[in-house]
Amino acid sequence: MKKKSLYINTFGCQMNVYDSQQIISQLNPIGYEVSESLDEADLIIVNTCAIREKAQQKAFSFFGRLAVLKRKKPGLIICAGGCVAQQEGKRILERFSYIDLVFGTHALKRLPEHIINISKKRCRISDVEMTDEILEFPSVASQVTNNIVTRFVTIMRGCDNYCTYCVVPHVRGPEISRKPEHIIDEIRKLVDSGVQEVTLLGQNVNSYGIKEGLCSFPELLRLVSETEGLFRIRFTTSHPKDLSQELVFAFRDLDKLCNHIHLPVQSGSNNILKRMNRKYTRELYLEKIDKLRKISPDIAITSDVIVGFPGETEDDFKATLDLVKEVEFDSLFTFEYSDRIKAPAAKFSDKISDDIKNGRLRELLELQEYYTTKKHRALVGSNELILVDGFSKKQDVASDRKGSEGIYWSGRTSTNKIVNFTSGDFFLKDDISIGKKINVKIEKAFLHSLLGKPVNLIPKPSKKKEETHAA
Ligand code: 5AD
Ligand code: SF4
Repeated sequence: MKKKSLYINTFGCQMNVYDSQQIISQLNPIGYEVSESLDEADLIIVNTCAIREKAQQKAFSFFGRLAVLKRKKPGLIICAGGCVAQQEGKRILERFSYIDLVFGTHALKRLPEHIINISKKRCRISDVEMTDEILEFPSVASQVTNNIVTRFVTIMRGCDNYCTYCVVPHVRGPEISRKPEHIIDEIRKLVDSGVQEVTLLGQNVNSYGIKEGLCSFPELLRLVSETEGLFRIRFTTSHPKDLSQELVFAFRDLDKLCNHIHLPVQSGSNNILKRMNRKYTRELYLEKIDKLRKISPDIAITSDVIVGFPGETEDDFKATLDLVKEVEFDSLFTFEYSDRIKAPAAKFSDKISDDIKNGRLRELLELQEYYTTKKHRALVGSNELILVDGFSKKQDVASDRKGSEGIYWSGRTSTNKIVNFTSGDFFLKDDISIGKKINVKIEKAFLHSLLGKPVNLIPKPSKKKEETHAA
């Protein structure tokens, strides 16, 4: 079969990254192979994200760029998938005449059939029907290459929480958990193909399996941790209201579980938390943080915060700043509130102006930078075990590169901090490779990363010595 070229552009969260991996696995058997070239593509898939207004705009502006390509190559198939597709449905086909297929979050399994039909009949299709079966796919393990050490694994889809600002339950449907045996099987295959770290994905992993009467999330973690050859386990996202003591104990009991939790707080004000329908109070959130730190004092805690939710007063915002000071998060993802058509808060009164939202975001970012840097600085001088996952992005280390020809490797600590390191002139560079676990002494702290040197450096044999040997 002649191979055809697939270009896939993924916007948004890790769930979309995972879905894109599934899409690739689905389309492989009908002859499509991933390519980095948009111009050469026979099939373009845009996996969209609707979580915030900006994410949606990015997807629309990318669609805009595709018109020229279709004119140049009329046989090209263009598809829009993901959350924006689910939300907008046929409206996308009406607005963009050159898009052939709109497929929603529950239509992944039917994708190959749709692509075959379009290429034969040149028809246009919209498939945004929601089904409540959890779809099992060919394992994403088939795409793992030697250089991939870390992978996402979806353990559940959808969400039942209906936070008032959030579009997810409306575009991804109700929460459904995958069976533990399917999850374990997929992880086993991933590990057999070289993966060493998995991140279990769900909108609220803490409610895993409850509805279906499967095992609890901490039990699932224990099962996953029994996978031989797996080095690390991460998970995201945890809803604070459902964080159980059993999960807290998992950080003590499971060696493979990384020492990091992402626990979105969204706001430090009880009034706003109530209007967001988050179902916990500031006090309950702080209590959970205490429990985690009692069990694991060095645990890294990260969070999401929305500023400018409708009705957020100066006092509400101050309560958020105070909470950030009290918790001292390792890092924060910060967002300006934006209306999402299907989310109830879009209809709330007391909208906050863009100027105020911008100002609050800046203030919050500045405060958090102080704590992120403080946490990073506290690690200088310590030894950290790093799983090497690639090469460093230049930004932070660039200033330190002068005079050194060494390769800068990159990896993460158990607490999810990025560490770049070089062996300079002292190490046999072939001894480091992607997938190796290396002990690194942290020497410098930056805002986004740390810089270090491997412990136990082996001196490089000098040229002179090699010559003597040869003689
Ligand atoms: N506006 C701004 N931020 C939002 N988020 C979700 N919906 C919105 C919205 N309408 C943020 C939340 C969530 C993260 C993934 O995106 O903080 O945790
Ligand atoms: Fe959205 Fe809330 Fe569900 Fe998270 S828990 S996906 S914020 S509705």
